[in-house]
Amino acid sequence: MAAPSSLGVSGAAPFPGQPGIPASISRDSSTDLLNVQALRRSFPSGPATITPIDGVDFSVRSGEMVAIIGPSGAGKSTFLHLLAALDTPTSGAIYFERNSLESLSEHELSEYRGQKIGFVWQRHHLLPDFTAVENVAMPLFILGIRREAALRRSQDLLHEVGLGDRGHHRAGELSGGEQQRVAIARALVGDPKLLLADEPTGDLDEHNAELIFELIASLHSTHRLTSILATHNLSIAGKADRLLKLEHGKLSAIARTSEAKAPAAQAKAPEDRG
Ligand SMILES: Nc1ncnc2c1ncn2[C@@H]1O[C@H](COP(=O)(O)OP(=O)(O)OP(=O)(O)O)[C@@H](O)[C@H]1O
Ligand SMILES: [Mg+2]
Repeated sequence: MAAPSSLGVSGAAPFPGQPGIPASISRDSSTDLLNVQALRRSFPSGPATITPIDGVDFSVRSGEMVAIIGPSGAGKSTFLHLLAALDTPTSGAIYFERNSLESLSEHELSEYRGQKIGFVWQRHHLLPDFTAVENVAMPLFILGIRREAALRRSQDLLHEVGLGDRGHHRAGELSGGEQQRVAIARALVGDPKLLLADEPTGDLDEHNAELIFELIASLHSTHRLTSILATHNLSIAGKADRLLKLEHGKLSAIARTSEAKAPAAQAKAPEDRG
């Protein structure tokens, strides 16, 4: 995991030479995986307009784990959906590995969603009548990977999330914590670079929330991921490399003492069956 960094919030690093981007660079942006410039997203709300994302500059270095907190309705989900190209900005730009998402074709965007991004939702959105291993393999089936190879990889991932013996259970028969583990395995099955998790522990009790976070932190490390987590859980958020707050449309860094931070990469693999 990358060293904690206070960079990349306000005055985020633009990429040199990109048209329309200021040339004044105050830091080395060469290790950024993701860079967001003046991002805005508005929605009509009756006769008015609401703008939960209102001029956000943000960047994430490869290997970082960033947590985003903010009150309900602040725009955390909206922001993650924009990063995942599940939604389109009203204005501003998102660069992934220096490529503007806006410049990608529909085909390239679906490759981006399917192969670069792993998304974990608050509610797992598993197909209850399919087995755990089939649920994990679903993104690979959609990509046209051979069934046998897809199931083999999915079974390996289930093993990694502590459910190696539950692959043939129907998803609907698993507990809430187990279902979220299956959803995490599904998010990683395409070997993404960027893991986006939208309140991944929001539906779980405190103990299972902690275990799921430890699992994500452990996978973040072993899969060499870059991760962005939205969460209401401050004890979980406090373990990320960097803690940001989204409020009134803006992202700001929350300063912490280094002693307060327990490195996420040190989290142990869990034993959850809850
Ligand atoms: N598709 C949409 N159409 C209209 N308004 C929307 C849409 N999506 C989000 N919003 C509004 O944008 C604001 C931000 O919503 P969002 O779901 O991003 O908040 P959040 O921070 O994720 O909240 P929570 O913590 O409750 O999940 C809310 O006021 C919401 O009603
Ligand atoms: Mg949300």
